[in-house]
Amino acid sequence: MSVRPIRTIGDPILRSAADPVRRFDDDLRTLVADMFETMRDVEGVGLAAPQIGVGLQIFVYEIGEDSGVFINPSIELGDEMQEGGEGCLSVPGLGFDTPRRQRARVSGLDEHGQEHEAEATGLLARCFQHEHDHLQGTLYVNRLEGEARREAWRRIRAEDYARTVAEVRQERAGTLGSSFGG
Ligand code: NI
Repeated sequence: MSVRPIRTIGDPILRSAADPVRRFDDDLRTLVADMFETMRDVEGVGLAAPQIGVGLQIFVYEIGEDSGVFINPSIELGDEMQEGGEGCLSVPGLGFDTPRRQRARVSGLDEHGQEHEAEATGLLARCFQHEHDHLQGTLYVNRLEGEARREAWRRIRAEDYARTVAEVRQERAGTLGSSFGG
């Protein structure tokens, strides 16, 4: 297993719809294991395959006891909204209140091709919506509204943001180095 580099905003793969997984083989299981390791390395609560440069419909998540993988997932949302902050490993150093649905039900496959589903509310439902969006090429900053939207894009376009991203990448590369060396 290995920690893989995380792509950051501006990388075209983050704006592309991911393809369905067709082969449930050892390569896929290695990829999923790497995604878990990468997510945990940066203390994320979710990670989608495009974030490590793989254009496939896979995401992993881990919030406390709730942990798993969804491959080729579909999502159903309730009508009720929730409020709360959100950030993204691919848009480092920023976080904004992001409107999401309160309830989400995800169904898909695991790394062995077995169907499964999960029903969630609150933070886990938010995580599912965020990760499912990644597979459509949508970032949370595109879900923002009003002042948060203006502020987010102002920050992202600012010159010092490119520096912040470069620093985070450098830090993460340090972790990568030690992991590969071990
Ligand atoms: Ni994200």
